[in-house]
Amino acid sequence: MVGGAHPTTTTLGTLAHFRHFSSLFVMIILGIETSCDETAAAVVIDGTRILSSVVSSQIAVHHLYGGVVPELASRKHIEAIVPVVNEAVSKAGINLKQLDGIAVTQGPGLIGSLLVGFSFAKSFAFALDVPWTGINHLEGHINSVFLEPDPPPFPFVALLVSGGHTSIYHVTSHTGFELMGQTRDDAAGEAFDKVSKMLGLGYPGGAVIGRLAKDGDPEKIIFPRTYLDRSGFDFSFSGLKTAVNRYFHTHKDEYEELICDIAAGFQESVVDVLSYKIISAAMKKGCGHIAVVGGVAANMRLRERVRHDAGLKGIAVHIPSFQLCGDNAAMIAATGYHYLIDGKVSDINDDVYSRFPG
Ligand code: KG4
Ligand code: ZN
Repeated sequence: MVGGAHPTTTTLGTLAHFRHFSSLFVMIILGIETSCDETAAAVVIDGTRILSSVVSSQIAVHHLYGGVVPELASRKHIEAIVPVVNEAVSKAGINLKQLDGIAVTQGPGLIGSLLVGFSFAKSFAFALDVPWTGINHLEGHINSVFLEPDPPPFPFVALLVSGGHTSIYHVTSHTGFELMGQTRDDAAGEAFDKVSKMLGLGYPGGAVIGRLAKDGDPEKIIFPRTYLDRSGFDFSFSGLKTAVNRYFHTHKDEYEELICDIAAGFQESVVDVLSYKIISAAMKKGCGHIAVVGGVAANMRLRERVRHDAGLKGIAVHIPSFQLCGDNAAMIAATGYHYLIDGKVSDINDDVYSRFPG
């Protein structure tokens, strides 16, 4: 499990404990995700087949402030949660009685945001009389590859790159993860967002930097690569962010001509380190399969580089389609399926967590 023992579950036993499960051969799970600035709901069959996936983004709200404003995020989740769940259920073409369980993000994330989805899921499960389970958002991202047609076999190594996390895991099952390394300061997505803000390109920055970088020369401005211990799997991106800031301030007059090259040089530095470390991790563990997941996995250059570098070593790469890289509820439902079939359900007294307990 990511970060230690699953904090929320009570083991009830087997499938037979659930009235709904015993009457069906397939299991239909409603997933709910509200950990940050996306209100999402999805209906997934057997942890693999998406019947519907609805994501309502709050980017337009937070864009004005250059980052996520927690109070506004909670308020927007409250407004969106019922319509988003209704839309997911209706797009799935099912009625509520067909739901076998509910999976909801329990943490990590913004407490106020998490509470909206978590409280909703608790009461919805109670009203529908179905089991429910709280899910670690990071486990959700890792399980997103199982929603694609060609998932990796166990064990594999996963690079999780998002706005809040940059970590490498050795993944032994849908719910079994060993942390091999993580960032000591900024997450990769956070670095993209901060550099974007610094360059006056707004929030969130990943996609904008990625677009500009396509027109830039990645070798024109060489920013530092922070490998730390080359044989280890920790990351650090704050020095790179400072280097970009310094470069930007000493070349302000040439901003217009250099912006695409700065974006390309910065992106290349991040991608170099990420690709090197995930491939080293696969080799260390003797894994023939790598997964790259999380919002930054949408980055075209990262996708291309990891595929190219891993290909040279005969390692297969699994990266979800774009809509499954960013936050979504299908990955939460897919993970929840595995907890629920193991009989691990949450309790009415369970609560959300901003960081993993312990
Ligand atoms: O997984 P995610 O949607 O939310 C978190 O759990 O954090 O990741 C969001 C992060 C943001 O920092 C965003 O800038 C980054 O993913 N991102 C990208 C790209 N698209 C989104 N970073 C680099 N290139 C992209 N194309
Ligand atoms: Zn995420």
